[in-house]
Amino acid sequence: MTDLTTRRDDTLAAIAAADTADALEAVRVEAVGKQGWVSALLKTLGKMTPDERQEKAPAIQQTRTAVADAIAARKQAMNDAELDRKLATETLDLSLPSPALPRGTVHPVSQVMDELAEIFADLGFAVKTGPEVEDDWHNFTALNMDENHPARAMHDTFYFPDKDGEGRSMLLRTHTSPVQIRTMMDEGAPVRIIAPGRVYRSDSDATHTPMFHQVEGLVIDKDIHLGHLKWTLETVLKAFFQRDDIVLRLRPSYFPFTEPSVEVDVGFEVVKGRRILGGSGDAPGHAWMELLGSGMVNARVIAFAGLDPAEWQGFAFGVGVDRLAMLKYGMDDLRAFFDGDIRWLQHYGFSAYDQPTLSGGVGARA
Ligand code: PHE
Repeated sequence: MTDLTTRRDDTLAAIAAADTADALEAVRVEAVGKQGWVSALLKTLGKMTPDERQEKAPAIQQTRTAVADAIAARKQAMNDAELDRKLATETLDLSLPSPALPRGTVHPVSQVMDELAEIFADLGFAVKTGPEVEDDWHNFTALNMDENHPARAMHDTFYFPDKDGEGRSMLLRTHTSPVQIRTMMDEGAPVRIIAPGRVYRSDSDATHTPMFHQVEGLVIDKDIHLGHLKWTLETVLKAFFQRDDIVLRLRPSYFPFTEPSVEVDVGFEVVKGRRILGGSGDAPGHAWMELLGSGMVNARVIAFAGLDPAEWQGFAFGVGVDRLAMLKYGMDDLRAFFDGDIRWLQHYGFSAYDQPTLSGGVGARA
């Protein structure tokens, strides 16, 4: 039996010395594998006489158990060591910045619309929208632009070939003013809304694109007068351009849907080739720039929308958003706004985190 004891001790020593899973497996195969020496001894038990078996079996069985236990223990120790190694070396640093993902930007037109919504919200204006595919009654007739009005001409307005169910011509709205009509008809009076959105005209050069953006404003209430219009526009433009020295000039004008109508100009000067708003247009080195159209809502329009003009009156205005964006953020070519050139957007676009807020200074870049 000393022979068995020696082989067992050699095997246990080899198990203890095995430093890789492969080395351990080799020892296992050699001892308790199918052809291993312990397995061979176990097989001899079957050929022994009962007496002989009784004498030799316990030592052989113990050897097998000892070897199997030692292998299992060694395997466990190896796994534990591997885990410790991984824990020590494969650290995960949660404080590392994540890899930069490509990020889009907010288009200046969207940014300016958001800024205006924020400023007007502070004055109690809600945001209303209307369809871009409009009928000629809402776009023209209800706004007191009769059949022969030049703006209705094919060379100004994009028409669709088909009429709607009520026989109205369908078109791409030429201004946001039809939202005035829709709001008064939907909600009655009083009204205090702005309506931002896309508008379309058959026009294309450096300062005109066939699609552009406007923000309409409408206030309908009792005892509203031009002073309210002037104060509102002045307050909004000062907040929007973040300058207290914005000076407006109201000029008599004509729109079929306002009476009286006023064109609003703003004073500016050219500094290093850029138009900077501020100061009177009559001051030295300054001039006036036409900014928007407005007026007191024509009594006929109020009546068209189903309200009693003897009871309700108000003001309306419409301003080009693209123009405001150019003036505030310094772009000079309107067409680039809609080219979709990613480089332009990366240069002039805003981070989604640049949320306009009054407290943060509307439109101030972070
Ligand atoms: N709808 C006019 C335009 O597009 C602007 C405007 C709106 C004028 C409201 C007066 C009142 O030019």
